Amino acid sequence: MSRRRLLQLGALTGTVAATSGALGSLSRAAAASTGSGTDGPSFLDGASKVTAERAQLQSFEGPHQLAVLSEPTRATTVVAFDVIAGSRAELRDLLRTITSRMRYLYAGGTPQFDGPAAPTDDNGILGPVLPARNASFILGMGASLFDDRFGLKPAQPARLYTMQSFPNDNLDPAQTQGDLSVQIGAEDADTVLHALRDITKHTRGAMQPRWRVDGFKSPPRPSGTPRNLLGFKDGIANPDTSDAAQMRQLVWVQPGSPEPAWTTGGTYQVVRIIRMLVEFWDRVSLYEQENMIGRRRATGAPLDANSEFAAPDYATDPAGNIIPLTAHIRLANPRTPATADSRILRRGYNFDLGVDVNGNLNQGLIFTCYQQDIQRQFVTVQTRLIGEPLVDYISPVGGGYFFCPPGLEGRSDYFGSGLV
Ligand code: HEM
Repeated sequence: MSRRRLLQLGALTGTVAATSGALGSLSRAAAASTGSGTDGPSFLDGASKVTAERAQLQSFEGPHQLAVLSEPTRATTVVAFDVIAGSRAELRDLLRTITSRMRYLYAGGTPQFDGPAAPTDDNGILGPVLPARNASFILGMGASLFDDRFGLKPAQPARLYTMQSFPNDNLDPAQTQGDLSVQIGAEDADTVLHALRDITKHTRGAMQPRWRVDGFKSPPRPSGTPRNLLGFKDGIANPDTSDAAQMRQLVWVQPGSPEPAWTTGGTYQVVRIIRMLVEFWDRVSLYEQENMIGRRRATGAPLDANSEFAAPDYATDPAGNIIPLTAHIRLANPRTPATADSRILRRGYNFDLGVDVNGNLNQGLIFTCYQQDIQRQFVTVQTRLIGEPLVDYISPVGGGYFFCPPGLEGRSDYFGSGLV
């Protein structure tokens, strides 16, 4: 087959970007993709923790990226990309393509088949037919996207900036920052990889991976909230995602100054890749571990109560005799009227990256959180945690701050359309 014919075919199947790196094909790839229906009765029929409510949360259309509110999936990957598109028009094509691949991957169906000699449209990892609604996506934009390359500085989200280093951080530039972040969630690791390969294939030439970390959520052990790799239930206390007023107050960007109009309905994502020094931790007494966290390891209950979901009562323990003043949960959320505005929506995942060069186990937490204002919320909480006893057992090594643009207004809309 001639190169010309190959390129023609590639353009039709949306694969030419992978073979030639040509960006002009991205919008054709977008047009060729079949992603459509996003509403439906169920998400992941038959899988664990599947509810109609969750199907609703994955919907692309509407003012928000609703996957932000959904419960963590069993498998995930967080990938930061450097954008290498050469112009604002190419960036627009890239955002269209990302959106259209996400729609397609979410909608499922039978991948296009162009004959045995053509490059395959789908990587085949999930078999010949893609199940519907089995992957969720969150797209974010880093502060570096708003540098001189695309002339976007005037439209930069007002509260977006480059992640700073905190005391005790050990940030590795190779795992930090990025122009775009893509988080893919699914119940199975192969579903996540399938989606990642699809997105990278269709966007080659316009963005390239900068860093990536894969995570998993454990099943409840034995019940309730799943555990992190320190052995504690993680994710118990969070703002109520079904309370729309609370989400407006804490998570979604509201209309009005200082934010540019296009950001309304978006949210700010913080990603922190936090290594756990598990071999030290496993030598610490249970008493000490529980005092560092402020909760019982077995049950997840605060030290002053018996049930996982009981609220700790700090007012009746002002000196910290029951829950130490330095306990992680007490510093992170003192639960006073003055600190209510700094609450964050946390979504944590475990990671396991084998062993490091010194032969130490490389495990930890992919900490993500969502908020309306990084400074008012994440930075305030993180600042309260500086010097907590837990810092001897954890080491933040990477991540970044990203702005997640609002949801989509209709089937032809794409993420960031109001920006580019
Ligand atoms: C490896 C690092 C970390 C570990 C092992 C960890 C562990 C935990 C655990 C076990 C809990 C109690 C269960 C729960 O309510 O979810 C908790 C709560 C919490 N953590 Fe962390 N955490 C880590 C990092 C962070 C960071 C970086 C922040 C924010 C800067 C943070 C903020 C919070 C908040 C706000 C709560 C809820 C407190 C409450 O409302 O009672 N954590 N964490």
